[in-house]
Amino acid sequence: NEQLPHDKSLDNSLALMQEGYQFISNRVNRYESDLFEARLMGQRVICMHGEEAAKLFYDSDRFQRKGAAPKRIQKTLFGVNAIQTLDGEEHIHRKLLFLSLMTSEHQKRLAELAKNEWKASIKLWKHADHIKLFDEAKVILCRIACHWTGVPLSESEVKERAEDFSNMVDAFGAVGPRHWKGRRARPRTEDWIRGIIEDVRAGKIEANKGTAMYEIAFHKKLDGTTLDAQMAAVELINVIRPIVAIATFITFSALALYEHPNAKENIRNGDEATLERFAQEVRRYYPFGPFLGARVKKDFTWKNCDFKKGMLVLLDVYGLHHDGRIWNKPNEFRPDRFQDWDGNLYNFIPQGGGDPSQTHRCPGEGITVEIMKATVDFLVNKVDFDVPEQDLSYSLVRMPSLPESGFVMKNIKEKALH
Ligand code: HEM
Repeated sequence: NEQLPHDKSLDNSLALMQEGYQFISNRVNRYESDLFEARLMGQRVICMHGEEAAKLFYDSDRFQRKGAAPKRIQKTLFGVNAIQTLDGEEHIHRKLLFLSLMTSEHQKRLAELAKNEWKASIKLWKHADHIKLFDEAKVILCRIACHWTGVPLSESEVKERAEDFSNMVDAFGAVGPRHWKGRRARPRTEDWIRGIIEDVRAGKIEANKGTAMYEIAFHKKLDGTTLDAQMAAVELINVIRPIVAIATFITFSALALYEHPNAKENIRNGDEATLERFAQEVRRYYPFGPFLGARVKKDFTWKNCDFKKGMLVLLDVYGLHHDGRIWNKPNEFRPDRFQDWDGNLYNFIPQGGGDPSQTHRCPGEGITVEIMKATVDFLVNKVDFDVPEQDLSYSLVRMPSLPESGFVMKNIKEKALH
């Protein structure tokens, strides 16, 4: 890659930790190139930015996921050998299982469960000096995710289980203690869920057809056999853990409502579409997934750049959402921009790009957006609260990011009907 800009440093791993969400876009701007080569953890990596690069990234003839996710990510965020690492027919077959669990009826059901939980919480919050929205959201989401999937969960364990799911996510951009927290949370959660899968298969716990528990426990692979209990547990965790992770978008939503009274006012007087545009803008504007990784499947050349078989590529996610070529005034929070957005599969990819039934794009976007909408509607229309002095700043270096205080609320009461 003679033409391709390279960083002069021997290895960019430290820079990645220091620049976080902006690592790729900083260099894209410096080199005035949507592609550049870096060295990360001792490997040559092509970093890519932009809508065209996103389209390329989702070409499954050119890229594969096998061998792309480092073991440290598999042992915290994904689970070893989970759907995220599959390719080809095996991937599509597994993906259909996930997509069958996330239909619009399921999305509505989860949103309804969330709404009821939020409403019921007011009674408890009334007596508290203050609450931290991020912590409340994790517990509520864990409770509804387990209920909806069919995982028995007692009230005495919900808090610790929620923390474990959340710590698996919190580990993804970390080295040191934060990584190890996730690394301990995963086997503890896998042991628990694997035990339940085994009990369901043995008929000791009842599971209803159509629930994630049932469909994953009795799913048949292409060869006609069921998943081994460990793999089934990993995939069921791949449904529950990301629901708990919606707590991050919920906390950023509360921050957005607080910082943008106009947007809040529009929701108070608005319809479903207003709510939806707000949720979309939260997913665009705030940092969550920084970038995505894949490996080159076979040699090819694109825009004068040689992609060599086995090379790692990283696709910029955060940077794409803040690219002025795609988003007018990208650093302003403006939900109305989604009025003109055409549903493009490659320029708005907070949960991946392409067609979810054909690519690794997240199957849980509908669930995410519906739960966000139910929660934002609650925060705007169902509850009154004060926002005391606190540190609401969030980092673009720490991955994943979150408002520092977790969004503290005080003097919470039901909104009077008017
Ligand atoms: C995949 C983000 C919520 C289940 C993904 C991917 C991203 C993502 C970036 C990978 C896309 C790719 O590799 O090309 C998010 C974010 C969420 C969220 C930011 C909000 C909290 C959910 C929910 C579920 C879910 C609610 C399920 C209920 C999955 C699964 C995959 C996935 C199973 C793997 C898909 C595959 O490999 O084919 N998600 N997701 N996610 N997500 Fe989500």
